[in-house]
Amino acid sequence: MAHWHSVPVQALESGRAVVDVDGREVALFLVDGSVHAFENACPHEGNPLVEGEVLGSVLACAFHGWRFDLSTGACLAGAHAAKRYPAELRDEAIWIAVED
Ligand code: FES
Repeated sequence: MAHWHSVPVQALESGRAVVDVDGREVALFLVDGSVHAFENACPHEGNPLVEGEVLGSVLACAFHGWRFDLSTGACLAGAHAAKRYPAELRDEAIWIAVED
């Protein structure tokens, strides 16, 4: 079952951040007013996705260039999808849903 956790909206002031959510390292990106939350580990070799480049609706890993759809985590270049968490902006906070 998924549980929603919140972090202050200020955490995303710079447009990207890594936050701890229930013991998980989550990379957050704010793109065109929407929040996207990913496990901060690329499915290729586990490097931090937070260092990736946002190219429109695509997140490109900074290490070897695997590419993921920001909205779904689907792999666009590479071999495996990125783990993505539901996330939204609400009540001056960022809400992220993680499974138990
Ligand atoms: S670790 Fe991300 S592409 Fe290799």
